[in-house]
Order: sequence, then structure tokens, then C-alpha cells
Amino acid sequence: MTVTVSKEEIEKQKAFIYKIKQRCKRFAVSHGRSPLALTETYGCQQNENDTERIRGILEECGFEFTGDANAADIVIYNTCAVRENAEQKVFGRLGILKHIKEARPEMIIGLCGCMVQQAHITERIREKYSHVDLIFGTHALHKLPELLCGVLDGGNKIVDIQDSDGFIAEGLPVKRSDKSKAWVSIMYGCNNFCTYCIVPYVRGRERSRRREDIIGEIKGLAADGVTEVTLLGQNVNSYGKDIYEDYDFSELLKAVNEIEGLRRIRFVTSHPKDFSDKLIDTMAECKKVCRQLHLPFQAGSDRVLREMNRGYTKEEYLDKIRRLKARIPDIALSTDVIVGFPTETDEDFLETLDVLEKVRFDNIFSFIYSRREGTPAAKLDFVLSDEDIHRNFDRLLEIQNRISKEKNLVFEGQVVDVLVDGVSKTDKNMLSGRMENTKIVNFPGPKSLCGRYVRVRVTEAHTWSLNGVLADEGIAED
Ligand code: SAH
Ligand code: SF4
Ligand code: F3S
Repeated sequence: MTVTVSKEEIEKQKAFIYKIKQRCKRFAVSHGRSPLALTETYGCQQNENDTERIRGILEECGFEFTGDANAADIVIYNTCAVRENAEQKVFGRLGILKHIKEARPEMIIGLCGCMVQQAHITERIREKYSHVDLIFGTHALHKLPELLCGVLDGGNKIVDIQDSDGFIAEGLPVKRSDKSKAWVSIMYGCNNFCTYCIVPYVRGRERSRRREDIIGEIKGLAADGVTEVTLLGQNVNSYGKDIYEDYDFSELLKAVNEIEGLRRIRFVTSHPKDFSDKLIDTMAECKKVCRQLHLPFQAGSDRVLREMNRGYTKEEYLDKIRRLKARIPDIALSTDVIVGFPTETDEDFLETLDVLEKVRFDNIFSFIYSRREGTPAAKLDFVLSDEDIHRNFDRLLEIQNRISKEKNLVFEGQVVDVLVDGVSKTDKNMLSGRMENTKIVNFPGPKSLCGRYVRVRVTEAHTWSLNGVLADEGIAED
């Protein structure tokens, strides 16, 4: 049963926003400036999307934004729990904030997201990080106005990390980080319980948004000039199963494909066990759906896949890829891989390498297994040493780097359509954008092209990106 947050509750939160707004106005009068907020996001696109909601609420309340923790009146970290290093980073940052807060005690520090949905983490924060004022879990995001009001009124530490299967909240403000591209959550939570993964515990059960809410949101985005949307969910292939009998992800994609103004539709993440022939057909038929797919396989050994509770074999995975390539020959593929799952042997690992060679992904996201408290795999023993695991990880990267480079080389000399994201992060004189297949293309050009589609002639392929020059045909608006 999907629980939608009631209209009354949303109205109640809006009343808290109004209350905070009055405070912010008084602050502006006494300080000669609006109060400043800093947000930082760790983890996946789902979290990025949640941060856009947090920023939407803060903006509605009257905050302006800064990137400088020393200048911020409120800092909110939206945290991730998927691997230990994501959590370590946040603890590191909290250490730095402690010093800043000693000099400016009125500063408010808030933590939210997946990491604080775990009891052992919140306990540690309460004990050792007493300078944190506000802790709210993934299920309390829509209550941010009320919680923030509580901090402003009382000054006591406020914690809301109720355990829950989760809700859906519609109608709260969003502040998007990009004008031409947008993430749209179509569902929340996960029911798969892969044995290594913390996500189902911190994000609750799978719950789908109503199709009219999703379509309405995307139509609004398109009207505002957004041309690329990425539909988000931990397993988008099971969209709708909890609320509809005869409406699934393929149907949703077809409906989004009809929305005027959009040019590119993407989606993450697909789970191989639920990736259907119907979806392959839908991807092939819908013109705006990008010829690109992220399909995590995690490991190549059938025994490890069973231990991971993934619900497919290596051969079943390869078979889906074969069918996909047969229908969409130029499809670009990416995946997630875990190296060093507890019981993995060197022999198992060779099966992972075999999948890389057989599929030839355009790029991969590879992770060394990280033990997550409370997950079934945390109880398993390791076969390989840390050293063996790191050696395997390096070998995996080496092989994939070769394949990525080979796949990029194909584009040298071609003219490709690129949606310009902005100035390149590595070279301030270059613009950076992405092709339909998500490959990054860097090229010289004026900033005025940001957010537009241009044609670029690829001059040089690297492992992770392509270099090019604007082609004579110039702008690729249709
Ligand atoms: N729902 C998505 C993404 C989940 S998290 C999916 O199923 O693909 C993103 C990736 O993090 C996973 O695909 C997995 O490769 C990795 N991951 C999850 N838990 C991990 C752990 N305990 N250690 C290392 N990597 C992990
Ligand atoms: Fe984690 Fe598996 Fe769910 Fe992905 S499908 S979020 S890896 S439990
Ligand atoms: Fe991390 Fe939570 Fe996403 S654990 S990967 S931010 S769902």
C-alpha cells in the first residue's frame, strides 16, 4: 500500500514555510542581507533530486545560497550510506564544521538522507557530534519546514528518523540545478534486498508515483525549457507494480515520449531480472528515448550472483544484452560492478572479466565491496585478502579502460549532436556536453551555447571523453 502524504499535511508544512519566511525577513532587516544556506549532496541521483527539494523549501523560506561554509547560516548535508567511504567523508566534514561553529554558534547544522536513517549512525552523531542541530531521515524530508521551525524556535537538537516503509509527498517546491536537464523521481525505495546493499533499509519499500503526477511534472518542465529528463528509481523496471494492474514502465515511457518540447529521455536504474523484451521494443520505438542503457550486472559468477540475491545468471544477463543489441545495434551500455564480495574467489572474478569482454560496455562504475552493518552479506567471510581484491580491481579497470578507449575511437571524425552542459571542469577554455549515448565531448566555443544542442566534429578520443570542434553545421536545434 502506497501512503501519499495528505494535502492537509502539505498545507501544514507550507504554513511552517510562511513562519520561517517571516523570521528570514526579520533577519534580513537586522543583518542587511538574507540568511545564507549551503547544501551538499553525497550519493546517487535520487539524493541529488532530494537536495533540489530541500533547496526548493529553503528558497521558499527566504534563504539565499552560498558555497562557502564559513559564510553559511545553515548547512545541510544530504548523506549516502551505500559504501563506508561515503560516510567517512561526512564525518570528516562534520569535524571541520565543528570549528566553524565554535566561532559562530548561531550557525545551524543539519544532516539528512540515507546515512542518518541508520540507528547506529545517529547514535554516534548524538554522542560525538553534538554540534549537529537537526537530523532527519529519508522519510521525513517533506517535514523539513516543521523541523527547521523547531530548531529556530527551541534551539534544541531535533531528530526525526522514524522507521517507515516510506511515503510519497507531492506538491512541495523544487529548486532545479540545471535549466535544460532534469531528474524526475518516478518511484522511491527498493524491494530487492541484494545481500550487500543498505538501500532497501534506508529508503523503504518500493512505491510508485501516480502517472498523472509524473506526466504533469514533466510537462511543466518542458514548458520551462527542459529538453532532457532522466526518470529515476532504484529499479525503474518495476514501476507501477504497486499501484496499477495494467500500466507499467514501458507505458510510462511511451507517454513521456509524447510530451512536446522534450528531446532526450533517459532512465536509471534498470534491474536485469526485470528488464523485459517489451521494454527493449519500447526503447527501440520511442524516438526520444536515448539509445543508452545502464544495466548493473555486479558480478559474473553464478555462485556469487546467487549469494548476492540478484535473481539472474550470467548467461541470462548476456542473453538480455544480446537481444538488446539485436534490436538497437548502436546502443551504448554502462554497468555497475562490485569487486571483492565476501565469498568471491579469483576464479569467480574471472567470470566478471569475461562479462566485460563479451558485452564491451562503453563505461562502467566499479566498486570495491564495502561491508554494510545489518545486511546479510556482512556476516559472510572473505576468501580473498585486501591485497588480492585491490589487485583484481586494478585489473578490471585496466581491461575496461582499454575497451572504453576502443569504443570512443570509433567516433573520431564523426559529427555528433551534443547538449552543452557548461564550461569544462578540467579546462576553463572549453565547453563540455554530452552525446545521446552519454559520452562527454569537450570543445572550444562561446558560453552562450550552454543548454543548447550543437553539432561537434570529434577530433580526438580519450578513455573517458572525446575532444572536438564545432562543426560547420553549427547549432543542432530542430
Ligand atoms: N538500485 C541501483 C543502484 C544501487 S547503489 C541498482 O540496483 O543498480 C549503486 C551501486 O552501488 C550498486 O549498483 C552497486 O554496484 C554498488 N553497491 C551497493 N552496495 C554496495 C556495497 N555494500 N559495497 C560496494 N558497492 C556497493
Ligand atoms: Fe540495492 Fe539491489 Fe535495490 Fe539496487 S536493486 S538498490 S543494489 S538492493
Ligand atoms: Fe546512497 Fe541512498 Fe543513493 S545510500 S546511493 S544516496 S539511495
